[in-house]
Amino acid sequence: MIVNSLSLCYHNKLILAPMVRVGTLPMRLLALDYGADIVYCEELIDLKMLQCKRVVNEALSTVDFVAPDDRVVFRTCEREQSKVVFQMGTSDAERALAVARLVENDVAGIDVNMGCPKEYSTKGGMGAALLSDPDKIEKILSTLVKGTRRPVTCKIRILPSLEDTLSLVKRIERTGIAAIAVHGRKREERPQHPVSCEAIKAIAETLSIPVIANGGSHDHIQGYLDIEDFRRATAASSVMVARAAMWNPSIFLKEGPRPLEEVMQKYIRYAVQYDNHYTNTKYCLCQMLREQLESPQGRLLHAAQSSQEICEAFGLGAFYEETTRELDARRAKLLARSPEEAEGPAEDTSGIIKMAIKFDRRAYSPQITPKMCLLEWCRREKLAQPVYETVQRPLDRLFCSVVTVAEQKYQSTLWDKSKKLAEQAAAIVCLRSQGLPEGRLGEESPSLHKRKREALDQDPGDPRTQEPAMPGELCKKPFVALASGQESPLEGW
Ligand SMILES: Cc1cc2nc3c(=O)[nH]c(=O)nc-3n(C[C@H](O)[C@H](O)[C@H](O)COP(=O)(O)O)c2cc1C
Repeated sequence: MIVNSLSLCYHNKLILAPMVRVGTLPMRLLALDYGADIVYCEELIDLKMLQCKRVVNEALSTVDFVAPDDRVVFRTCEREQSKVVFQMGTSDAERALAVARLVENDVAGIDVNMGCPKEYSTKGGMGAALLSDPDKIEKILSTLVKGTRRPVTCKIRILPSLEDTLSLVKRIERTGIAAIAVHGRKREERPQHPVSCEAIKAIAETLSIPVIANGGSHDHIQGYLDIEDFRRATAASSVMVARAAMWNPSIFLKEGPRPLEEVMQKYIRYAVQYDNHYTNTKYCLCQMLREQLESPQGRLLHAAQSSQEICEAFGLGAFYEETTRELDARRAKLLARSPEEAEGPAEDTSGIIKMAIKFDRRAYSPQITPKMCLLEWCRREKLAQPVYETVQRPLDRLFCSVVTVAEQKYQSTLWDKSKKLAEQAAAIVCLRSQGLPEGRLGEESPSLHKRKREALDQDPGDPRTQEPAMPGELCKKPFVALASGQESPLEGW
């Protein structure tokens, strides 16, 4: 996806602040629904992002940035494309630029976090640690401004002295950034300390670029109208809200907040539709419930160990069933049209023999599964039992299994809904690539063997051996290299 407007306007805007764990896609979409103009993602660390691959997730209609362990680090979608600001944690200009280039076609703006006082951030020279290194700030921001197509911003805290703060922000402005967000607290101050509206005001009166005021939740901002009061008190262009929006994202609604129960239900619907990990969903709902965590609903939420259980706790069990059924159908349709479907066995550079196979249990007798066939065959051949290794990818929770038989690995390229199904698919790849019966209903085992034996007996130069080969004959590596006089593994079936 390509954002058409290259320039996001930061004047007179209501903004959802960056919040670790809170600012994932469901929360951002909800804030937009309730009237936020711009939404920041949670801070994502440059090194982590640089390991990610951009993946178009057709089943969800999202763009995912996926880590090597298949975790989705950043998920976004078309709906927020022109409103989402990507916030990164960085201490290095080149890395920052590489991240900006990775995400720039999918987001509206790029932000650098210079306000996080947490040790995990400052230890790496990121977050608030940057505030004591203006040279580095300048390098990072000017590199980003020159190198990315998106407007660049940063989010800072104030310094111990106003004079130093003003000289820092002037230097920052000269890098050419589009706007600056100011959390009106010092690095060592916590949310219970009062926010300095005066410091934000002094910055706003000094700079020409838009200043985004932040830090007003609780003391200043409890409702929609308070946002404008905070903006006036700080003379800022725009206001960025964190905690008040985390507690109830309908704070952005002009008409006043919606009941929490309704807001949470809407949040859960987005979470299910966009396959948000249930631990993240649960965390955000706990932030909204706050004092009500001890209520019956709070207890159910606390006990929930899956998205389904969360939905059930909020009376959304039927919605969960229906939505996951639709998603599964979409995934199945996408898999069905995969070009891999038509491919025969292939051995890739990993040495694993792969085929695009799905185990359809209706096509097999319940008494004879492919796994059983393979085990039986291994026993007859006095081979070690097949060993199955299965992984689940967090992206869509699907499973893939690799089976090892006689030191050769076999795998289906199609991912499955359960470990059992994935193992059966791997077993089929193994059996089919050797031309062995796999327990399919109506399978004619004897003729399979007969054809196979005939093919082996034939002179390779004989044109009849050029007939379409059995899958197993395409396989480059048989289970075992047969010494002359040894029984063929195909015998006995
Ligand atoms: C749960 C949580 C996570 C936060 N994560 C981030 C973050 O990722 N990046 C950032 O710049 N600030 C982060 N902050 C700070 C907020 O963006 C904001 O500066 C601070 O909460 C003050 O604004 P408020 O008074 O509206 O809450 C976080 C705050 C909270 C409560």
